[in-house]
Amino acid sequence: MSQQAPTIDFDKIRSSSDGSVSGMMSSAFEEVVVNNPYFAAGGGLMLLGTGLALTRQAVIRSSGLIYRQLLVDLEIPSKDKSYLWFLEWMSQYKHRSSRHLSVETNFVQHNNGAVTTKFSLVPGPGKHLIRYKGAFMLVNRERSGKLIDMTNGSPFETVRLTTLYRDRYLFSDLLTEAKTMALKIREGKTVIYTSWGPEWRPFGQPRSKRLMGSVILDEGLDKMIIEDVQDFLKSGEWYHNRGIPYRRGYLLYGPPGSGKTSFIQAVAGELDYNICILNLSEKNLTDDRLNHLMNHIPDRSILVLEDVDAAFNKREQSSEQGYTSGVTFSGLLNALDGVASAEECITFMTTNHPEKLDPALLRPGRVDLKVLIGNATEYQVRNMFLKFYENDEQNCDIFMKKFKELGLKDVSTAQLQGLFVYNKRDPTAATAMIETLKRPNDAF
Ligand SMILES: Nc1ncnc2c1ncn2[C@@H]1O[C@H](COP(=O)(O)OP(=O)(O)OP(=O)(O)O)[C@@H](O)[C@H]1O
Ligand SMILES: [Mg+2]
Repeated sequence: MSQQAPTIDFDKIRSSSDGSVSGMMSSAFEEVVVNNPYFAAGGGLMLLGTGLALTRQAVIRSSGLIYRQLLVDLEIPSKDKSYLWFLEWMSQYKHRSSRHLSVETNFVQHNNGAVTTKFSLVPGPGKHLIRYKGAFMLVNRERSGKLIDMTNGSPFETVRLTTLYRDRYLFSDLLTEAKTMALKIREGKTVIYTSWGPEWRPFGQPRSKRLMGSVILDEGLDKMIIEDVQDFLKSGEWYHNRGIPYRRGYLLYGPPGSGKTSFIQAVAGELDYNICILNLSEKNLTDDRLNHLMNHIPDRSILVLEDVDAAFNKREQSSEQGYTSGVTFSGLLNALDGVASAEECITFMTTNHPEKLDPALLRPGRVDLKVLIGNATEYQVRNMFLKFYENDEQNCDIFMKKFKELGLKDVSTAQLQGLFVYNKRDPTAATAMIETLKRPNDAF
């Protein structure tokens, strides 16, 4: 059956109108739009479409409104400290459902030096649901496809936590718990930071604290230095009231192997501080970077500049070879002076050649206390011996007698340690080998 296309009945328009133009128009509208099934169907569809679009918008708007009213978000960017704390916490958390996991491999070094590997399965990018203190939280770990952290080449990430508005106070509970957990792992440890591009990064795993008693300096020297540091740490207000920058610089100088580095580690352990090591002779360290690093030292950290003399000698050498080290001497002085932190700043510098240092570096304000950490004195030899062979006074006396008879001079504490480690459980053997101390580079 063929369908006939509807036609417009012009006669009907003419006859139904009263002859006037407006009458003709209205009857034309009736005939063309209302009675025409195509137009009627199109209009209906249009109305339906508009209605649906409006409803959709209304649903989106109201769900947005409900979302804003009922839910809260917390965003933790990967640049923030709590980011890693949170991931660590979540990897241990039991009440969670995750289908995407990432692996993080950690080396755990035990006190005896053995290393075990631990895999922790942290939540990978994607959505995860956790239940914390009775509240549900949606965790969304997102990776930015475009932004890359130029310092380490990893993509920027964020973790977004969403929960009901009424449970918002749980965020701070959760973050505090994550922080406490992370700090507990580092308890009793010293974190060593090194410079990594423009920022400080932990170098390896946190190490067990070096105990003060394990470094033997000349009588009273360790106590003098540690008391000086402690006194400085207590004097914040005193410095601020007088408008003096709140910093103190120490220079430990002396021959190699006398315990300078070890003592700084022990000071950090004693004060429960971390250590930031900066290598001034690093080729791509520029004055700007040095300045930035020195002004962004992590909290509770001691800044250590090892072998300060070497950095600038190297500069002369390397410029002859056609390339220069980035940091200049005046850059170092400016950086030292410019540390403008409200927090305290403790700097320890070490050198084997204090005579090579420019007096400008040694002036008070940059170096406030210079301490010679020399070769072993009689007091140190005795105490080193008693540290390795505990309470063996008798053998110690024999060792000391021989030490004096041989007129041993310029023996470093590192050499003594070498001798005692070689003869771990045998003090008589150590005494028999005492002459090796005459030759600093003896390899037994
Ligand atoms: N006074 C000391 N007491 C205990 N151990 C020491 C002492 N001096 C050196 N040692 C031991 O000798 C080794 C080298 O010491 P350290 O690195 O601290 O020397 P240093 O003075 O920093 O030497 P350098 O000037 O070459 O950097 C370490 O293993 C350390 O345990
Ligand atoms: Mg050293």
